[in-house]
Amino acid sequence: MRLGVNIDHVATLRQARKGRYPDPVAAAALAELGGADQITLHVREDRRHVNDRDLELLRKTVNGTLNLEMAAVQTMLNLALQHRPDTATLVPERREELTTEGGLDVVTNREEIRKVARSLRDASVEVSLFVDPDLEQIKASHRAEAQAVELHTGRYCEARTQRDRARELARVVEGAKAAAKLGLRVAAGHGLDYWNVKPVAEIAEITELNIGYAIVCRALLTGLERAVRDMKDLIG
Ligand code: PXP
Repeated sequence: MRLGVNIDHVATLRQARKGRYPDPVAAAALAELGGADQITLHVREDRRHVNDRDLELLRKTVNGTLNLEMAAVQTMLNLALQHRPDTATLVPERREELTTEGGLDVVTNREEIRKVARSLRDASVEVSLFVDPDLEQIKASHRAEAQAVELHTGRYCEARTQRDRARELARVVEGAKAAAKLGLRVAAGHGLDYWNVKPVAEIAEITELNIGYAIVCRALLTGLERAVRDMKDLIG
């Protein structure tokens, strides 16, 4: 199982004082030493945490793959084409949200998304779509010419009862199977932590997890390298 470490939260701390540290570029290097296979960052249109400088330096320094989460809009497409991450994960974005709240509505916006996906693919950037584990969204992702999907695990992570959790996990399992059958590479993420990650890591079709908040929070207490290593050990 590949582990993508999302370093946005390191930049959030930096931006609390609008200073120079902690530097997400240094954090990415430590995450890689801890076993991260991928560094993930979400350059938001409002640049609230990571910014263009971080993307530029990460592109030059990350040894594994670099996964840029971005809105499917022209300005972000231009940025992606300039820096050429290995993967671009298209995500919905609303300025007032605290974090990404739901999957991309590919069913409604398929043509727009397909145009962005084509431009990225033409530049040899792999295209992944962050979608809810919903069959229609997964089929639409395939039709929009994505090469991968990242299944949104937020509802599974937020479920408070055993029953709800089992139901949401079953959705992720079904979604992963459907996506793999369509030939899509399957990743998952959002809200995963050291206590809820195992059942998702056990889904055979899922080959990558992108995890940020839980790892960065643990890193405050254990150091980043150890926090990444602990997660890597858990997901096997
Ligand atoms: N994947 C995507 C597409 C996301 O938007 C996020 C949050 O930025 C994550 C994974 C990581 O979520 P978390 O920080 O809750 O682990």
